[in-house]
Amino acid sequence: MSAIDPQSIKIITTEDGSHSLYLPHLNETYHSFHGAWRESIHVYIKCGLAAYHEQHPEQKEIVVFEVGFGTGLNALLALEYADTHQVKVHFHSIEAFLLEEKFYKELNYTAMDPSFEKYSANFLTMHEAPWEADAEISPYFTLHKTKGDLLTYPFESDVYDVVFYDAFAPRKQPELWSVEILEKVATAMKSGGIFTTYSAQGQLKRNLEAAHLQVSKVQGPPGKKEMLTAVKTI
Ligand SMILES: C[S@@+](CC[C@H](N)C(=O)[O-])C[C@H]1O[C@@H](n2cnc3c(N)ncnc32)[C@H](O)[C@@H]1O
Repeated sequence: MSAIDPQSIKIITTEDGSHSLYLPHLNETYHSFHGAWRESIHVYIKCGLAAYHEQHPEQKEIVVFEVGFGTGLNALLALEYADTHQVKVHFHSIEAFLLEEKFYKELNYTAMDPSFEKYSANFLTMHEAPWEADAEISPYFTLHKTKGDLLTYPFESDVYDVVFYDAFAPRKQPELWSVEILEKVATAMKSGGIFTTYSAQGQLKRNLEAAHLQVSKVQGPPGKKEMLTAVKTI
């Protein structure tokens, strides 16, 4: 994918009132038109972080890997989940393209729900946190941002409990959804780890299976019938 031209990015409002970003040159949005907020809660919190936590209630610390920090929406939702459920979350996010201050300062996520208003300053801190360092955002949430390309990231084995796979769509960025890259991500997951993504593409299902993950088609977020989750069983 060619670099993102910051001048071309547009803030849009999705159907649930939450913002997202639109990239004209890719004709692609960062989230679903049917609601960025609702999509992220369903795909990444309900089907990812909360699902893992419910299956491993004894586990005091959960390590999450996110593909694409972008607007920081998933990190914000994970912060609130960690604080509310008093489970320590280490959130590692990789991002190839920086989002300028004029965009992240406009995003309306902390105004979407009264229980998020207290995170306005934390949301900016997360965007401004240094790369390649642990930033303690709350006693229950540590953010580690990596500036880099997922394709060349040197993964370690057996590190992550939950993977938020939030790259641009397979049609737009096929290289990020290949068996080769998914195998690397699967190797970096711990046994029992959950991979979750908004996509329900048949080829992705086959690629995840080829990467030795056990794949399920589950109910999608509002406006989308299905999506995929996968578990590392070995
Ligand atoms: C669909 S957006 C979602 C971003 C974010 N999770 C959010 O909720 O705003 C995809 C993100 O992946 C990033 N990205 C695209 N190609 C990448 C790559 N090769 N390595 C790392 N990040 C990449 C984009 O810059 C963008 O922020």
